[in-house]
Amino acid sequence: MHLSRRNFLRSVSVGAAAATSMRLLLPAWSSATVFEPVRRREPGGPIHLDNNENVYGPSAKTAAAIRAALGSVNRYPFQEYDALVEQIANLHSVKPEQVMLGCGSTEILRLAAAAFLGPGKPLIQPSPTFEAMEHYARSAGAEVVSVPLTLTFAHDLDTMLARTAASGTLVYICNPNNPTASLTPRKDIDTFIGKLPDTTYVLIDEAYHHYAGKSAMYASFLDRPVDNPRIIVSRTFSKIYGLAGLRLGYGIAATTTAKQMNSYATLDNVNGVVVRGAIAALDDAASVTEFIKRNEDVRQEFFNQAMARMLKPIDSHTNFVMMNTHHPAEQVIEHFRKNNVLIGRRFPAMDSYIRVSFGTPGDMAAFWRVWDLLPFAKSHMQH
Ligand SMILES: Cc1ncc(COP(=O)(O)O)c(C=O)c1O
Repeated sequence: MHLSRRNFLRSVSVGAAAATSMRLLLPAWSSATVFEPVRRREPGGPIHLDNNENVYGPSAKTAAAIRAALGSVNRYPFQEYDALVEQIANLHSVKPEQVMLGCGSTEILRLAAAAFLGPGKPLIQPSPTFEAMEHYARSAGAEVVSVPLTLTFAHDLDTMLARTAASGTLVYICNPNNPTASLTPRKDIDTFIGKLPDTTYVLIDEAYHHYAGKSAMYASFLDRPVDNPRIIVSRTFSKIYGLAGLRLGYGIAATTTAKQMNSYATLDNVNGVVVRGAIAALDDAASVTEFIKRNEDVRQEFFNQAMARMLKPIDSHTNFVMMNTHHPAEQVIEHFRKNNVLIGRRFPAMDSYIRVSFGTPGDMAAFWRVWDLLPFAKSHMQH
C-alpha cells in the first residue's frame, strides 16, 4: 500500500461569552497588494490550522514565476537546477558542492538517515519532535533514542550527549522545535557540538528559521556556521515561501558530507516548476518580511486571546503554537474537527496539548469561537 507522508506521520505518532465581549484586534498590514488573493480554503471546506503552512501561499512574484514555468515543463530543468544551487550557495556563502536539493526538506532528512544510520548507529532525537527523521531511521534499521525535552522545552543536550555511540550516531536537532515551537539556546548547542565524538553527525533542522525572530537565544547555523564537517543544516521552501505543495527543501554540509548524502538522492529529484518558483522566492525579500510580520501579529493576538482566557501556551518562535488544554488532546482535536477547524495531530508525549498553526486573523477568530464552545472553556475565562 502506498504510504503517504501524512499517513506515516500519523502512524508514527500513534504510538463563548468571553469571545463575544472581546474584540479581536485585526492588524493593519502594509503592502497587501504584494500578495495573490488569499488562498484560504475550498468554499465550505475546513479551516486548516493543522500543518504549519504559510496560509498566504507564495508571493505574487513567486506565483508568476511558477505560471511562467508551465511553458517549459516538457524540458528537463538542468540549467535552472544549477542556477538555484548557485543562488542558495551565494545566499549562505558556501560552495555549490555543499548544497543538496531535496523533494521537501524531508528528503534531506532521509539522505542523512541513509548515509549515517544503520544497525549499531542510533538516531538520537528529542521528544516530541517532527517525526520524519524517526521514520527514516527505522527504515535504515537504526535504533531510535528519544530524549524528552527539558522543562523549558529545550533539547536535553546533556542526556543526548550521554547516549551517543562510539560506533557512530546521528543527532537530530529541530530548532525551533516542532511541535513545541520552542528554542534551544544556540550557545548550548555550540557547547554540545564541541563535546561530541567525531563519529557523530548532527542534523540541524531549521524549517522554521524565518519565524524565530531576533531572539538572543537563536542564531542559524547557516548565518553563524561552525567549522565542523559533521554538521548538516536543512531548510525548506514549505513554510515562509509558501510552497509546501510543490515540495522543495535543501541541505548544506561540508563538501564530503554532502557528497556522501547525495549519493542516496533520487537523480533529478526536483521539478522545474518549483525550481523556477524558488529562484523567484529567494529574490523576493520584501514578501518574506511581510509574511514574517503577518505571522508576528497573528501570534501576538493569539497570546492576547489565550491570556484573556487564563491559558498559557508555550512561548512560540514559529508559525504555530503548542498549548496545554489540561484535557485529552484527542477530544479537543475532535471538537474542533466537528466545528470545521482542523488543528494539529496528537503528540502522545504531550497528551493534553494541542498544536495550532497560525492562519489568517479571520481563521484565528474562528479558532477562538470554537474554543469557547468547549464544555470546559468557561472555567478559564476572565470575567
Ligand atoms: C521541523 C520540520 N522539518 C521538516 C519538515 C518537512 O518539510 P518539507 O515540506 O520541506 O518536507 C517539517 C514539516 O512540517 C517540519 O515541521
